[in-house]
Amino acid sequence: MDRHALRPIRPLGLLEGIEIIDQRLLPHVLHWAKLKSASEVARAISEMWLRGAPLIGAAAAFGLALALRDDPSDAGLESAATRLAATRPTAVNLAWASTRVRRRVAAVSTQDRASAAWHEALAIAEEDAAANAAIGEYGLALLREIAVRPGRGARQLRVLTHCNAGWLATVAWGTATAPIYKAQAAGLPLEVWVDETRPRNQGTSLTAWELGEAGVPHRVIADNAGGHLMQQGLVDLVIVGCDRVAANGDVCNKIGTYLKALAAHDNGVPFFVAMPLSTLDLELADGAAIPIEERSAREVTHLQGITADGRVIEVRVVPEGSGAANPAFDVTPARLVTGLITERGIVAADAAALRALADAGSKLSA
Ligand code: MRU
Repeated sequence: MDRHALRPIRPLGLLEGIEIIDQRLLPHVLHWAKLKSASEVARAISEMWLRGAPLIGAAAAFGLALALRDDPSDAGLESAATRLAATRPTAVNLAWASTRVRRRVAAVSTQDRASAAWHEALAIAEEDAAANAAIGEYGLALLREIAVRPGRGARQLRVLTHCNAGWLATVAWGTATAPIYKAQAAGLPLEVWVDETRPRNQGTSLTAWELGEAGVPHRVIADNAGGHLMQQGLVDLVIVGCDRVAANGDVCNKIGTYLKALAAHDNGVPFFVAMPLSTLDLELADGAAIPIEERSAREVTHLQGITADGRVIEVRVVPEGSGAANPAFDVTPARLVTGLITERGIVAADAAALRALADAGSKLSA
């Protein structure tokens, strides 16, 4: 997968910054923005120029390297880490990446800290791409197995996804989309139902754009359509991403994921979550303690689109004066999750399987 949502810039050995796709403008405008300091990275994360759990984590790691370039002291590092941590509270990847960078530089002299942090950020980015490629391979085997289940007939597989867990949300491949891209490359016929994902419409504006660019057959559906399509036998499986998975397998992801899991459960449709290990939070016993980001009501009350003469505009869709609430994530209980597709294989969403997965991972990296 040669599509990337983040490019490090380092001319002549200097740490200049990173370039990212400004996702607020998609699908209408493809614009690469340069972020040259930790505060520019923090602003871009909190205003969602870039988003998606793994991409937020990688960008925050580069942000810390830029902070150390400007102030390599412990105080400078802590203040940048605190600022970045406050940008988006739900995805654990941000805290995970920040901890990795801080551990990496802890015993390094101040003059070498920025470079050490930059290398750790590069490692995080490379590992994310590799993890997602592996998720793609395990997911492809799953898709192949579901495609030949008795009673399915010969028609193409139909996969439903929610939000954007594609390459735009990661360093490469995406998590939920990696099996889809691998299936397409392997010639396995499939079509993707893309939930629009109100209020910010990441499905409509990002997933549909990504799949279209890659030539993957897809149709955007209203968020309310998924249950009906499942009842009609038009969904073979659901694959979504995640922002944080608790020790018991509860999955936090974009608001609306829980409703899709309930509908899948009621209709016997397999519900899979693509989860890189960077998104597993064994510190939290269950999903109840996961902080749920509350975003601006304006995301609910207003919509962005393009006019016939090519102007990107925002319009209000609620009556003047109506209030709005905007919880950005929800928690799907582990009992509704058929399995977690990870870079080490597909595992059950339960405490024993996740503990074993993490232990095997720490043995490999020891
Ligand atoms: O608010 P967003 O757009 O950052 O939410 C993104 C999601 O919920 C994704 O599904 C999740 O981060 C997984 S991305 C591989």
